[in-house]
Amino acid sequence: MFKVGLIGAGFMGGMHANCYKALGDKVEIAAIADVREENAKALAEGTNAAIYTSADELLKHPGLDFVDICLPTYLHAEYVIKAMESGYNVFVEKPLCRTAEEAARIVEASKKSGRIAQVGQVIRFWDEYVWLKELADSKKFGKIRTATFKRLSSYPDWAADNWLHRFDMSGGMALDLHVHDIDFARYLMGEPKSVKASGINNAEGLTQYIVTTYVYDGAVAVCEGTWNYPKEFGLTMAYVVEFEQATVVYNSGTGKFCIYHKDGGVENVELTKSFDGDSDIGGNISSLGGYYNELEYFIKRLSDPSLPDFASIEQGARSVELALEGYSQL
Ligand SMILES: NC(=O)c1ccc[n+]([C@@H]2O[C@H](COP(=O)([O-])OP(=O)(O)OC[C@H]3O[C@@H](n4cnc5c(N)ncnc54)[C@H](O)[C@@H]3O)[C@@H](O)[C@H]2O)c1
Repeated sequence: MFKVGLIGAGFMGGMHANCYKALGDKVEIAAIADVREENAKALAEGTNAAIYTSADELLKHPGLDFVDICLPTYLHAEYVIKAMESGYNVFVEKPLCRTAEEAARIVEASKKSGRIAQVGQVIRFWDEYVWLKELADSKKFGKIRTATFKRLSSYPDWAADNWLHRFDMSGGMALDLHVHDIDFARYLMGEPKSVKASGINNAEGLTQYIVTTYVYDGAVAVCEGTWNYPKEFGLTMAYVVEFEQATVVYNSGTGKFCIYHKDGGVENVELTKSFDGDSDIGGNISSLGGYYNELEYFIKRLSDPSLPDFASIEQGARSVELALEGYSQL
């Protein structure tokens, strides 16, 4: 059993705590830190976790195997680096950090520490996207010609002190939401030759809507994101990927998930979910699925460090750089 120290007990901290509880005897939540003690206490329910109101104090808790950082984005770099310098294995929520300069410092600290680390680029572990990546790698339908990825959301209103709506703290929608598809497009199709973004910022410089186009040799990927839709809209994530021999479609809003074969015929895709627990903690995400998968995989890597690192610190750093590059063009 691995002992985790969880730092940040808000929305994502709650999601991770539920995953650790669902992982049963593989993980013990040994300590939780949050400046809001009541948040930490709420997550500790049903565990024997020690409660801290200071992240620095948690880093001194004896016997932790890894630290999981679910702090607001602007605090990631400080605590990821402190945790690495303290010799811990580290899981950190996406985006890796707030700026490209911080990303470079984290990459450096990670290399020095030599411990296991993973970024919560959860779409790399989301069942329908894992399926797509395996399909592309298999070349079953040939090469990808075009790909569109959408992440359309209602306004996120849960963040403590509204940090999510301060560009200096979150990087806004571009770095908070859009980064999921930016990251996945690169995971699927590799480093683009060029990046072109257009969109709308509000008076505070916060992106409300963005479309980013990646150009490759013989292929194009388009990512679209917004977090400006009405509350009732919730969250829709979707993709349409056109291979040489078939076009595949997934839409979480409509439930459509199918393959259109080039020579005719439509095949519905049925996946056996790796894990199907409800998140049950509010926000606009209803399933633990991808979060469970990524944390379960991280735990496996702690047992077997030779396993591939599907969401490395370097990958997370590059996705931060690209999200900010797109934002700088708006
Ligand atoms: N992977 C995803 O799909 C996903 C979804 C939402 C959020 N996130 C990411 O997770 C991270 C956290 O977001 P959230 O929505 O949980 O935010 P949140 O505001 O709900 O929670 C943050 C928590 O950190 C605590 N905190 C703030 N400063 C602190 C400090 N100095 N020391 C200790 N605790 C402190 C707050 O009290 C709060 O409880 C962000 O980086 C965000 O981008 C990822």
